[in-house]
Amino acid sequence: MSGTPPDDPRADRVAALRWLRTPAGEAATARAADLVADRVDVLPALARLRAEVGPDGAGPAWELARLRARARATFGDDADRLLLTADALEQAGRPVLATRRARRLLAGGARSVADLGCASGTDTVALARAGAAVTAVDLDPVARELTAANAEALGVADRVQVVAGDVVALVAAAADGRVAGCDAAVLDPARRAGGRRQLDPDRWSPPWSTVALLLDRAPACVVKVAPGLDHARVPDGVEAEWVSAGGSIAEALLWGRGLSRTWRRASLLLADGWLLELTADRDPGTAPVGPVRGWLHEPDPAAIRSGLVALVAADLGATLVDPTIAYLTSDGPADSPWVSSHAVTDVLPFNLKKLRALLRARGVGRVTVKKRGSPIEPESLARQLRSPGSGTAVVVVTRVAGAPTVLVCDVSG
Ligand SMILES: C[S@@+](CC[C@H](N)C(=O)[O-])C[C@H]1O[C@@H](n2cnc3c(N)ncnc32)[C@H](O)[C@@H]1O
Repeated sequence: MSGTPPDDPRADRVAALRWLRTPAGEAATARAADLVADRVDVLPALARLRAEVGPDGAGPAWELARLRARARATFGDDADRLLLTADALEQAGRPVLATRRARRLLAGGARSVADLGCASGTDTVALARAGAAVTAVDLDPVARELTAANAEALGVADRVQVVAGDVVALVAAAADGRVAGCDAAVLDPARRAGGRRQLDPDRWSPPWSTVALLLDRAPACVVKVAPGLDHARVPDGVEAEWVSAGGSIAEALLWGRGLSRTWRRASLLLADGWLLELTADRDPGTAPVGPVRGWLHEPDPAAIRSGLVALVAADLGATLVDPTIAYLTSDGPADSPWVSSHAVTDVLPFNLKKLRALLRARGVGRVTVKKRGSPIEPESLARQLRSPGSGTAVVVVTRVAGAPTVLVCDVSG
């Protein structure tokens, strides 16, 4: 691994990370982990740590212990061995999904994979565990330090080479389907800058031009992109996949042409780790539109983002309530993991006074507000609709055939 020039401001960060891996650093982090587990507040915890491990080590040890505690939900037992920074943890994907990606990448026959922008090494470790020889590249010395440490801590260092490099240049130099000397590549551009999301793919790092070039030059690659990526950007012959977990999008991927199997794929990660998939070889278009019926169905975000709501609708015998809104309706409840269903009791034009009166008449005092295609703020409307009644309901604010409409659903109590 190449070093960090001493005048680089990140050199201090690297030095602190290296200290955390020494016996003294590990002991300080273990002590900090005890204080985190005992829920000691930050100021007294830092005072105790300063007294016990010295003024320089207290801050880094406390931060690492806190980050490991936060990472446990996603990384499981590995979390307690990871070297992390807040930035790297925020950028890290879910290991379970990194493993799935690694397996698909290697099923194409690749043996060596370039992890282009490795950060803390989530993909690097998943690829190495899946059997690949990994070249992990990052411009940032802190990222390289983290990846090298994590590969070692998780027992895959013998399959990982960490190198300094600019992904833009490496992709520009790709030839014969190989990048950075590897058979395959994973690219996960940084899509945040200064704590804010970069909505414009041309401002990602590396930018969209590098993503497009990689997809052109490396048939065996996968790129992580923003869930809101415009479908018009997806090159011909490239499979785009949206993966959801727990009702929100976990990741969106573009698969190189050598690995693409379909036009669009929606994948649903269930709590037990199983994945359900919905695929279409061509654009299924929009679902038919019809009047609101007895049940309203909210499609899973992976089905919506991938443009596959029409497939879900066909499966359920459902129609859209409006051509521009992803709510489906049918006569009966749906036994499908691709939607959550609500029993509709009332449909009325949006009018706060009339809605309040109706809820009061039904004894509803608490509502959950959902919205699509409406500027209302759900929490604020839910507060405005509170009343002494003991019943509950789901209030859906949307457009039906173009008109602002409220659907009162799931009334109970
Ligand atoms: C979103 S993070 C990768 C996260 C990683 N896949 C994970 O799950 O932990 C993007 C990484 O790309 C690196 N990066 C951004 N632009 C780069 C470039 N031009 N060359 C090399 N690395 C770059 C950043 O330093 C950052 O570590």
